Amino acid sequence: MTKMGKSTDSVMELQRRAEPAPERTIVLIGLMGAGKTCVGRKLAARVGRPFVDADAEIELAAGCTIAEIFDRLGEAAFRDGERRVMARLLDGKPSVLASGGGAFVDPGTRGLIAEKAVSVWLRADLDLLIKRTAGRDHRPLLKTGNPRDILKGLMEKRYGTYAEADITVDSADRPPDVTVERVFRALANHFGEQLSPSELQD
Ligand code: S3P
Repeated sequence: MTKMGKSTDSVMELQRRAEPAPERTIVLIGLMGAGKTCVGRKLAARVGRPFVDADAEIELAAGCTIAEIFDRLGEAAFRDGERRVMARLLDGKPSVLASGGGAFVDPGTRGLIAEKAVSVWLRADLDLLIKRTAGRDHRPLLKTGNPRDILKGLMEKRYGTYAEADITVDSADRPPDVTVERVFRALANHFGEQLSPSELQD
């Protein structure tokens, strides 16, 4: 028995139930600036999983930055690389995986995510996306014109597809932990496990 009187078995059962997406990689999707990397890193710590950032993995595999890939080889080559890297990552151990904004738009990648993972769309409004992407210059797509127009166009093009995600969570214009908690609860609901914080304490 533990100090709170629960048997070891029931504590283990609660720990098992605290895993909000058993055996499945949690893939965060959404537009640039939605908070996928920041929320993903914190969510991974919260659920005790490795955090993987698809953009960083693409850069590692290519040996150069995403901006350089776009510049030297073009967007189509980037998308090919992204598709291959996503397939490899989705084959790995369950993790929290922050995808690049365009990954879920690819039908092949979307199919693999549906088969092997659980997808969470971090939905954000235009002003929040603009605020979060402003002053960062590593995103080639935002350099081709006015970021507001580009992001607005991408919202129109992609939000219908993002809506196919298993779970949609509004990205809060507040500290990232607020969104992390929303995602955690939404996952618990999705997998039919609703836990109160007190249940998780031994
Ligand atoms: C892209 C989003 C970027 C990156 C690339 C293309 C997109 O990732 O993959 O610049 O098509 O939306 P983030 O969403 O992590 O910024």
